Amino acid sequence: MSPAKDGDLSVFLATRLLEEVEAELGSVFDLTPARTQDPLRELREIGAEPDAVLVSLDRPMSADAIEALPRSVRALATYSVGTDHIDLDAAADRGLAVFNTPGVLSDSVAENAIFLMLGAARRATESLDLIRSGRWQGWSPTQLVGVELMGKNLGILGMGDIGRRTATRAQALGMSVLYCNRHRLPEEQALGAGFRETAHALVADSDVLLLACPSTPETRGIVDAALLEAARPGLIVVNIARGDLVEDRALIAALGSGQVRAAGLDVFSGEPDFDPAYLDLPNVFMLPHIGSSTIEARLRMGRILIEALRAWSAGGHPSNRVV
Ligand code: GLV
Repeated sequence: MSPAKDGDLSVFLATRLLEEVEAELGSVFDLTPARTQDPLRELREIGAEPDAVLVSLDRPMSADAIEALPRSVRALATYSVGTDHIDLDAAADRGLAVFNTPGVLSDSVAENAIFLMLGAARRATESLDLIRSGRWQGWSPTQLVGVELMGKNLGILGMGDIGRRTATRAQALGMSVLYCNRHRLPEEQALGAGFRETAHALVADSDVLLLACPSTPETRGIVDAALLEAARPGLIVVNIARGDLVEDRALIAALGSGQVRAAGLDVFSGEPDFDPAYLDLPNVFMLPHIGSSTIEARLRMGRILIEALRAWSAGGHPSNRVV
């Protein structure tokens, strides 16, 4: 059931969403969906004066883009949990409220983390290549031997909501969980996972490293040659967060030498471009940033932004307000 229409809140939709999600937004707000590939320019050209603009990762909001928004705009809602595509300082300077979609996509992303771990551990890229190419000669004891996750240590860098939901799933697979965060979590939030103060200490004790932290000046490039050298030989690296946490050249070298056994990557620095050397590495299981791409997450992401904008327009301060 749709809530009553907030006719006086006008929202410019600068990206395309699933039909159902656009319909829900349109049932609540005075919604103008962009019609061109350059929505911010379109916004200026049609002379619209929306209260809020809804963007996503495909619509980066640099300081210049924020500056060029019509003066009517008082809020930016991003259809993503990540906000690194938005210049938050520029948004704050302009007095914009910024909302994102935390929590509602965490189960989907955690499932994808497990998918990537299993795909990397069980040599999914080579298996798919073999069967789809018609080269498969039949079962043999030496064919495509991978490793189990059971009994292995999962080191989670960034034990936020997604990290924790991945931890419980990994524990169900028989893994032990370690984590590294800026701060040690209270016991009830740590799920029995062991704390490591640094990323180096984490990888020294991990068989699988899961990157689940936001991209910030502190975390960018954190997976570099020094970190990979400090890791347990045969580490599996899984990235569900942001591509720029990884120095690609260092990871590619470590995948080539075997210091890193395999990688499961859903995100890439500069995506949709990525270092083509990954394609030459059979031990890389790659996905095109599909972590939150489930119908359940997509619907919830729309609804959390609807709730946030409605609450904000009524004078409230929703918990998913970032700025
Ligand atoms: C996806 O990467 C998101 O930030 O929602």
